[in-house]
Amino acid sequence: MAESCDIVKVFDTTLRDGEQAARINLNTGEKIQIARQLERLNVDIIEAGFPASSPGDFDAVRQVASEVRTPIIAGLARTKESDITAAGEALRTASRPRIHTFIATSPIHMEYKLKMSPDDVLREIESAVRLASSITDDVEFSAEDASRSDIDFLVEAYTLAIECGARTLNIPDTVGYAMPNEFGEFCRNIIRRAAKPGVVWSVHCHNDLGLGVANTLAAVRSGARQVECTINGLGERAGNASMEEIVMGLRTRSDHFGADTRIETTKFFSTSKLVSHLTGVPVQPNKAIVGVNAFAHEAGIHQHGILCNRATYEIMTPESVGSPGTDLHLGKHSGRHAFAERVEHLGYQLTGDQLSVAFEYFKILCDKKKDVSDGDIEAFLMDRIIQATPERRYELRDYAVTVGSGGKPTASITLSHKDQDITEAAVGNGPVDAAYKAILKILSFAPELSEFKIRATSELADALGEAHVILRYKDLKAQGRGASTDIIEATIRAYVEAVNRLYSTAAAREVTI
Ligand code: KIV
Ligand code: ZN
Repeated sequence: MAESCDIVKVFDTTLRDGEQAARINLNTGEKIQIARQLERLNVDIIEAGFPASSPGDFDAVRQVASEVRTPIIAGLARTKESDITAAGEALRTASRPRIHTFIATSPIHMEYKLKMSPDDVLREIESAVRLASSITDDVEFSAEDASRSDIDFLVEAYTLAIECGARTLNIPDTVGYAMPNEFGEFCRNIIRRAAKPGVVWSVHCHNDLGLGVANTLAAVRSGARQVECTINGLGERAGNASMEEIVMGLRTRSDHFGADTRIETTKFFSTSKLVSHLTGVPVQPNKAIVGVNAFAHEAGIHQHGILCNRATYEIMTPESVGSPGTDLHLGKHSGRHAFAERVEHLGYQLTGDQLSVAFEYFKILCDKKKDVSDGDIEAFLMDRIIQATPERRYELRDYAVTVGSGGKPTASITLSHKDQDITEAAVGNGPVDAAYKAILKILSFAPELSEFKIRATSELADALGEAHVILRYKDLKAQGRGASTDIIEATIRAYVEAVNRLYSTAAAREVTI
């Protein structure tokens, strides 16, 4: 960290705004893995979820709050009384709880979405912030769609929120509409007109025009001292401002900003991979800071420069963000200690029992393949340890698939269910199709396959196959991942996992399958 810099607090909302993004659906165990890694990254505040939005979210916030003790844990709440009490209840065991309450202040949101007058909105702010402040002294207020709101009204809203007890005031560019110069000026004016001692100004920028990070940095220049962001820029629509880009912007150009964060930047690469793996959202290769090509130099002239002096073409070092350059491989001579270190380096924090199960599977894998890559480890940890739903309705017992140029692909699947093995067979237009049709015959309901992806964990021929599926049933959605040296087994495991997760999601939402 640069000396004599102002500290900018980092508020991570990967588990709330990031998870809200279409297609993402994390279970509580996965959220805890991410929260623990965010703690190692040294973020100041983790927004763990929106407790009133579903029993699953409530439970996730409650568990993150009781297990992750160093950062502040925030829960989101609308201004409704029941939202605020739900957030307070979910955060009851947190060592440092924060209630983050919000309401829209732009004319379009007030008229069409809230159907409230500006005075109604002010009344909501007053009662919500007062109630939240009676539960915790750490209250944040956000004026949703602030960047399209009238500045005089905003100043009135923030002034009122401060009077009622809010200590962090957030200025969101909810729809990613702002331009950096304009947003910087806007924030400067609000801060100048509404600031009070002890109050922290925050920004929360979406990326609809690709300007989330630029707008955030412009606001820091104008006095914002909290930035809201997500790992890999996950989030609604085009996402939120990406944490790794904001933080490295501040760190690399602290001369320009006179501000820096407390983030342990060497954990960025592993955190990005962890989040990408758990959410199933890949990181584009040329993504700044954490893309696999972010530090790759292809052009001969660049390579020459790098060899003479890395600073010719690198404004920060790969080491500073934990980019490993190449994957390290473990093999059958690697012991439990080396394996445990690798797992931790990849960003996973396992209990002793989980580590024992993982190490056992690692040894089995070493008998099947010579080198076990980081990608292999990540894939099987996800499949066998992290994603596992506590209550498992179905378990894959056996499968056999026949393919060839002669006949139609056929699959026979055996699943165990309530201590009973059930076998069904089906024909399909490919082996995966046949396997999925056989599983559907076993199930008592018919989920729809809404996404199916398959990839290899490395470029080598003996890489693991990793499958990722998303199933939908009624308005429920669940993802499942499977990893195996046999690609068909990986796809079947992913499907069965998604079925198990559909059941848990249904139970949490009190929906009958
Ligand atoms: O984008 C937004 O305005 C939000 C608020 C709840 C802070 O996510
Ligand atoms: Zn948002």
